[in-house]
Amino acid sequence: MNDAIRQVTHVQNIRYDKEREALYIIDQSLLPNEERELRLETLEEMVEAIRSLRVRGAPAIGICAAYCLYVLARSIDEEDPDAFLSRLRDYASALNASRPTAVNLAWALGEMETAAASHAGEPRPRLLEALYERAEAIHRDDIAKCAAISEYGLSLLHEGDGVLTHCNAGPLATSRYGTAQGPFFLAAERGMHIRVFADETRPLLQGARLTSYELHRAGVDVTLICDNMASMVMKNGWVQACFVGCDRVAANGDTANKIGTSGVAILAKHYGIPLYVLGPTSTIDLRCPDGAHIPIELRDPEEIKTLWYEKPMALPGVKCYNPSFDVTDHELIAGIVTEKGICRPPYTQSLAELF
Ligand code: MRU
Repeated sequence: MNDAIRQVTHVQNIRYDKEREALYIIDQSLLPNEERELRLETLEEMVEAIRSLRVRGAPAIGICAAYCLYVLARSIDEEDPDAFLSRLRDYASALNASRPTAVNLAWALGEMETAAASHAGEPRPRLLEALYERAEAIHRDDIAKCAAISEYGLSLLHEGDGVLTHCNAGPLATSRYGTAQGPFFLAAERGMHIRVFADETRPLLQGARLTSYELHRAGVDVTLICDNMASMVMKNGWVQACFVGCDRVAANGDTANKIGTSGVAILAKHYGIPLYVLGPTSTIDLRCPDGAHIPIELRDPEEIKTLWYEKPMALPGVKCYNPSFDVTDHELIAGIVTEKGICRPPYTQSLAELF
């Protein structure tokens, strides 16, 4: 494998140093200008890191939260197993409340709680070891899932295709290759030429700061565009498919992803371009019947008005609406690509068959 691709796809966005018993993340809020690790030790630091998108991307926050819960479990001094479990559950709910939309967070914490419950009566070192093993397994599994998703995604592309992507679903947001971006790294590794158009993804600019950063460094042909240029690029005939990630997929296929995704899907339909959602089965929430039941995170208006500018771009009193995600109607989705294969409509049936 080419060194540049390896460097990008093997980034240690979340790293647990077992010798030091220390959890580190790459602080994604500083990218692309600075790559700095941050150690997470307390619940407050962990919640702040997730809420402030220092660690972000649905699979990555799930993996990070699993290690966080292990770190916090080590600090619980209750001897009684029930008291231990109750403290652990309190920590899990605090972590879970840090971001509401991506279901991977709740999923990974649930896995950790189940592991804790089944080892609660055992000596403390054994219980802690079981929690560490579970967190590591969630991490390891995600690496394997991303590799499989990338292969299935690549099977949808042809030499010379142009693909539009929205937000960031690469190594920083997941593990190794990523989901929606994984096929681009695989294509590059295999000498296939794919032209990627990356939406900048207002307001937090994950497309500009992270997607174009990762793809460019790996040597993938990437062109950064503002979100409102997607229609033009499609109209020009430069886009043969849209690949997007997901934060929660409902049982009927309705998909929550970064704000702006549903607009991309509507445009793609207008121009007759297939839009594919790529994500692990841990992002599929069969208990959620449809998109109307997906909680949508609302964020600070300052992200729109002041965050990226030397001077404010709107008067302080101006009202802002800043939802972080939107829901793409299942009818606009040509396929949902998971580690188990590509689901096609009707999704109520094809998604259920995965489990
Ligand atoms: O708010 P973020 O940056 O955590 O949003 C998550 C995303 O990057 C996307 O919505 C992504 O496509 C799904 S996560 C691989």
